[in-house]
Amino acid sequence: MKIFLDTANVADIKKWSHMGIIDGVTTNPSHLSKEGGNPVEIIKEIMKILPHGEISVEVTEKDPMAVYEQAKKIAALGNNILVKVPCASEYYDIINKLVQENVKLNITLVFTLIQSLMMCKLGVTYISPFIGRLNDIDEDGIEVLHEIKYMQTQYDFSTGILAASIRTVDQFHGTIDAGVDAVTLSAETLEKAVKHPLTEQGMEKFDADWKKLGIKKFP
Ligand code: E4P
Repeated sequence: MKIFLDTANVADIKKWSHMGIIDGVTTNPSHLSKEGGNPVEIIKEIMKILPHGEISVEVTEKDPMAVYEQAKKIAALGNNILVKVPCASEYYDIINKLVQENVKLNITLVFTLIQSLMMCKLGVTYISPFIGRLNDIDEDGIEVLHEIKYMQTQYDFSTGILAASIRTVDQFHGTIDAGVDAVTLSAETLEKAVKHPLTEQGMEKFDADWKKLGIKKFP
């Protein structure tokens, strides 16, 4: 299962990439806007940190042909770039065209099984179902994720499922349980997810017991 960092913050990306945990990064216009500065320079910096990672960069144009042109330019930034295009029906034509032209797409803002099926049929690289935002409207995001996973397996689609909008440790847990191909989450959520109080307590107890022996060098 791939783990992506859901951010455009270079410091967070450096920290987690050094640990060998991160397979890539998913940016979006909100993340890049939060960082300020020149978004292209930030993306190039992220590409330097993760030269073999998968870096998702979202289109900002609205008109389908402008989205198509922008997607081609974003893809040209590097071989490891995935272009994020919203799952809107007016973009189906250009999504189809971009797939035919071997542009790797991460289809964002996916909320339903049917949207997922359409994108799998078009052969995009990833679909990103937004779990947290489904929960925000009182739907069960993880249940939708299970349905999408079942559909992907049932029909043997090559499109990967990238669970997005993951804001809690429980949601992260649910994505692993659903068997999806990838998850993207913030550095804060990842930080919380990898910690357990019993690990900390256990380390303190072993340390205290060990010190009772009074041995200075081991082995
Ligand atoms: C990542 O690809 C998405 O843009 C992101 O996970 C959205 O998360 P949010 O719903 O917490 O904004």
